[in-house]
Amino acid sequence: MATSIGFGILGAGLVSPFHAKAIQASKGGKLLAICDMAKERADKMAAEYKVKAYYTFKEMLADPAIQVVNICLPNHLHRDAVVQAAAAKRHVLTEKPPAMSLHDTDEMITACKKARVKFGCTVQCRVRKSIQAIKQAIDSGRFGTVLHADAYMKWFRSIEYYQSDAWRMSRKSGAGVTVQHAFHYIDLLQYLIGPARRVQARMNNLAHPGIQIEDTVLAFVEFANGAQGVVEASTALWPGTDLRIEINGTNGTAIVTGEKIHTWKFRDEQPGDDAIRQLGSASQATAAGGATDFGFLDHQVVIQDMIDAVREDREVVIPVTAVRPTLEIVLAMYQSAAKRRAVSLPVKDDESAWEWKG
Ligand SMILES: NC(=O)c1ccc[n+]([C@@H]2O[C@H](COP(=O)([O-])OP(=O)(O)OC[C@H]3O[C@@H](n4cnc5c(N)ncnc54)[C@H](O)[C@@H]3O)[C@@H](O)[C@H]2O)c1
Repeated sequence: MATSIGFGILGAGLVSPFHAKAIQASKGGKLLAICDMAKERADKMAAEYKVKAYYTFKEMLADPAIQVVNICLPNHLHRDAVVQAAAAKRHVLTEKPPAMSLHDTDEMITACKKARVKFGCTVQCRVRKSIQAIKQAIDSGRFGTVLHADAYMKWFRSIEYYQSDAWRMSRKSGAGVTVQHAFHYIDLLQYLIGPARRVQARMNNLAHPGIQIEDTVLAFVEFANGAQGVVEASTALWPGTDLRIEINGTNGTAIVTGEKIHTWKFRDEQPGDDAIRQLGSASQATAAGGATDFGFLDHQVVIQDMIDAVREDREVVIPVTAVRPTLEIVLAMYQSAAKRRAVSLPVKDDESAWEWKG
């Protein structure tokens, strides 16, 4: 195989080991460096993965062997890092959400386009086999008309999780359950069903006193194609149970719990259906009860795609442009909760929606 594609990870916090393991397990990718402004974090992780430690992004970007950077910073810091990476002509894989505003997201997209670098987002749940099976069934018309699309994320995170870092206690930095944890599952609905035209949301803090964020969101979503759905997401519900995604159409129903297919029933039963019912049956934990309680295999698929996209000089499978409509739904939810009324899309950025009124 040709020379490996060199990776550098920015941010040595909770999620970065998932990137590091995924790069190390990839075909053709090589982890070269970890960068964190907290020296002890960078050093610890660099020693563990036997790579170089950097303490500023500028220093890491000066390393010519690094071709792809994985942005694993708190949500509000993605924009500056992505723009800096693009200016240095590095391909970028950013953690979700891409940014905390549409303005920042568009600036990042423009910077990467101008620099002709790939720009992907790790909304890795999209690549799960169970989700891909539903996507194919929707695209081939097996559901008939999709009527309902719902996501139920009844999770638990301790108060210590929120207190572990200043950004986890700040809505504007992206710590609320809607933009942080539920982002993945709102993204799945957007990926499967399409953009939304109207949302109504209610947010509250049920179990994390003193933390100025919503730990719970209940939202009603009207999709542009006429389907409707609910998003119920929380980190207040001990001990946390597996995520559930439910899709109901005129001709079929599919339910996923965690990564597993729970229900797969269509009017036109097909020969492959029994195999689909087994998908994910031996799968890993899905973060219901703890922030690092999941595997790195989904990240590995996204990282492998970045390696292949660089080699083949093609678009990545999950470009940030495809995740922007998810951010728009999420921002509409915050605006709806702040205004206590339904909000129609498209929306504009509205800083006042981040204020926590409790
Ligand atoms: N895809 C997933 O399943 C998943 C899971 C968890 C977190 N995430 C995302 O990953 C990102 C990081 O989350 P986390 O939980 O790992 O956060 P974290 O706070 O644990 O880690 C962030 C790290 O960034 C470092 N940092 C901050 N500013 C920096 C700077 N300017 N230069 C260098 N280092 C800097 C901090 O010191 C910290 O070590 C977030 O966007 C989050 O939403 C994604």
